[in-house]
Amino acid sequence: MTAVSQPWQPTDVEDHGPEQLRTRVAEALVRSRDRSIALTDAVDDDEVVRQHSKLMSPLIWDLAHVGNQEELWLVRDVGGREPVRQDIDELYDAFKYARSDRPGLPLLAPAEARAYLRQVRDKVLDVLDHTPLEGSRLVDNAFAFGMIAQHEQQHDETMLATHQLRAGAPVLDAPPPPPGASLAAAEVLVPAGPFTMGTSTEPWALDNERPAHTIDVPAFFLDTAPITNGDYLRFLESGGYDDQRWWSTPGWRHIRDAEITAPRFWERDGDRWVRLRFGVHQPLNRREPVVHVSFHEAEAYAAWAGRRLPTEAEWEKAARCDPSSGRSRRYPWGDDDPGPQHANLGQRHLQPAEVGAYPAGASLLDIQQLIGDVWEWTSSDFHAYPGFTVFPYAEYSQVFFGGDYKVLRGGSFGTDPVTCRGTFRNWDYPIRRQIFAGFRCARDARPDEIG
Ligand code: AVJ
Ligand code: FE
Repeated sequence: MTAVSQPWQPTDVEDHGPEQLRTRVAEALVRSRDRSIALTDAVDDDEVVRQHSKLMSPLIWDLAHVGNQEELWLVRDVGGREPVRQDIDELYDAFKYARSDRPGLPLLAPAEARAYLRQVRDKVLDVLDHTPLEGSRLVDNAFAFGMIAQHEQQHDETMLATHQLRAGAPVLDAPPPPPGASLAAAEVLVPAGPFTMGTSTEPWALDNERPAHTIDVPAFFLDTAPITNGDYLRFLESGGYDDQRWWSTPGWRHIRDAEITAPRFWERDGDRWVRLRFGVHQPLNRREPVVHVSFHEAEAYAAWAGRRLPTEAEWEKAARCDPSSGRSRRYPWGDDDPGPQHANLGQRHLQPAEVGAYPAGASLLDIQQLIGDVWEWTSSDFHAYPGFTVFPYAEYSQVFFGGDYKVLRGGSFGTDPVTCRGTFRNWDYPIRRQIFAGFRCARDARPDEIG
């Protein structure tokens, strides 16, 4: 049901002119809306208003929330127009009511919500036609429009996670990703040296990705591919979930309290494992990246394997650094926008691809699948970069900085290209498993291993 997306990232007004930028903005808005509508039309009204898990909002809340954010930023703020529905702001303020309380709110009914989104969108397209796309930080390079397209796509990934948690007959379908291939090496050395992390130039980068800053990263080894189901099964079958040695204190407490003995959505079927994916039971494919593991499970696997998770800086250096020039690139494969040959993004396939499936997306050091397939847990807490300033609102990033959240990098099969790049930062609680998250491992380089 999900449409094939045309990956796209903005470039400077100067390069392409304001009309081309407007066309590209409109395309990004249409693509996110097509996806939101597809994900909500996939179920009937009864299911679209129901809560499928305490962790998630009803799908209809996400839908009206993206419309309300679009109204706040593009109709009222950028456009300076009259409110469409000021009375509902509070209902769709993510900080006002917890996800678990949202089904009890007097939310817009499905038909009303859909009509509201159409009304807002009509006004936004008119604002887009009449707003100069330069002159303030909010409109330069159409930033606010890009932010809203990214916001909607982020909620589309959240809605996809709600679909994964939903019980009942399958309603989503997509073609399988390309097959995997064998890898030249299991790990590669990322040499020591300074590296420019973050960005000050990417037009639609969000505040937490800014500013660009130089850091020194010692030499380390990084896996050339994410940890697979086959790898993870060896940890599980060797008793990894019963051996406290591999777990941090909070990780061990959590898996004991919550009685976690395998990745989420894995089920035993006699002597084999199956996994539940969007309502379909499938045999576990050992060559696919493991998904639906928490940070704690990722960390325990790494300890068992005698390795560790990469830091966020290590991950970004591996994804962006050109070791010969020292320059940081936009993506592992270079500066080109993501295409279907580079990475499994954009809900084109509703599962991770086997390792080795995207050789065209490899980094200069031949590290594969950094972008797409599964979000990758890093060992880093979510903090502001040096020189960070809130833009344009504190509730996007700033209120989440601190030790409560772990950073995830690289995007998943559920992430749209517009909201995924070498600098993009995601974060979640270390116990979370409903997100499309896996990991890869790293290790320090010994002195005798460094060139
Ligand atoms: C960046 C994915 C953690 O979903 O909580 C959506 C994105 N922010 N609406 C989230 C977001 C406001 C955010 N994450
Ligand atoms: Fe939101």
